Amino acid sequence: MTVTNIQLDSNGRLKHFLTTEGLSQQLLLDILNHAESFAGVGKRAVKKVPLLRGKTVVNLFFEPSTRTRTTFELAAKRLSADVLNLNIPYSSTSKGETLSDTLRTLEAMHSDMFVVRHDNSGAAHYIASQVAPHISVINGGDGRHAHPTQAMLDMFTIRRHKGTFSSLVVAIVGDILHSRVARSLIHALTTLGVCEVRVVAPNTLLPAEVEKLGVHVFHDMRRGLADADVVYMLRLQRERMRSALLPSENEYFYRYGLTREKLAVARPDVIVMHPGPINRGIEIESSVADGEHSVILEQVSHGIAVRMAVMAMVMGRFHDNNAEGT
Ligand code: CP
Repeated sequence: MTVTNIQLDSNGRLKHFLTTEGLSQQLLLDILNHAESFAGVGKRAVKKVPLLRGKTVVNLFFEPSTRTRTTFELAAKRLSADVLNLNIPYSSTSKGETLSDTLRTLEAMHSDMFVVRHDNSGAAHYIASQVAPHISVINGGDGRHAHPTQAMLDMFTIRRHKGTFSSLVVAIVGDILHSRVARSLIHALTTLGVCEVRVVAPNTLLPAEVEKLGVHVFHDMRRGLADADVVYMLRLQRERMRSALLPSENEYFYRYGLTREKLAVARPDVIVMHPGPINRGIEIESSVADGEHSVILEQVSHGIAVRMAVMAMVMGRFHDNNAEGT
């Protein structure tokens, strides 16, 4: 079974959310539109809607996370679900329990949804193929493969600022090779009809045949950023680098670090994005990360609404056009 097939139920509705690759434009738009309906919940006096009341969501994070784990937890709580956060270093995984046995144990507690982060590419897909039929799995980032909710919160942020996608030039800069965020974002950008997607990086940080993803490759940052509407910076993922792919961090910052001076070649209303965590002075200078073009903290806020939308969708809450209670 392909990754795309396993994500959809027999009616073509979202059952698991593992990757943006292969999903239809309409389904991605549905996520954005449902997220729009949740965006105001966090500003209410009572920050809750009852859509997932009685459901149990388990956060299974086998790899560190600040943004994804906490915003999934908040999103589930705002949907009125019960939330379990399995503390992996203190769980029975550390005593040698297999992943399958951990899953069976959590299933026995009548869980309804697993949110999974794992350093192995394909882990969320594997878990989705193993769980009981009533359980949905959402990928919170697997190895270098995919981070689909990050991509959708990025698309939500872009749409909020730019209105439509079709006229936009988006430049993704940095460590594309190791980035699950870049892969998921490129699929979402191309599916949603962005005019031009550029990747800007040294050859050593680009996947082989990256052009086949529908992107234009630049090695010179000033050329890659010229007239861009969106500049999306990526972290150097040293923990995933098995060999020396860079001369030095200073050299990297000189060539690919985002500075005010390099950003000046982009459009005057450019937005600067970053999935976090940011490494100041390595891929981005502080005055840009905190500057007037930066939407980095908005991305974090939008993550809650987008994750609410995805959780409600995989639990079938919109199947009869019934968004009651939002
Ligand atoms: N963007 C992102 O995945 O951040 P965390 O690693 O903090 O979850």
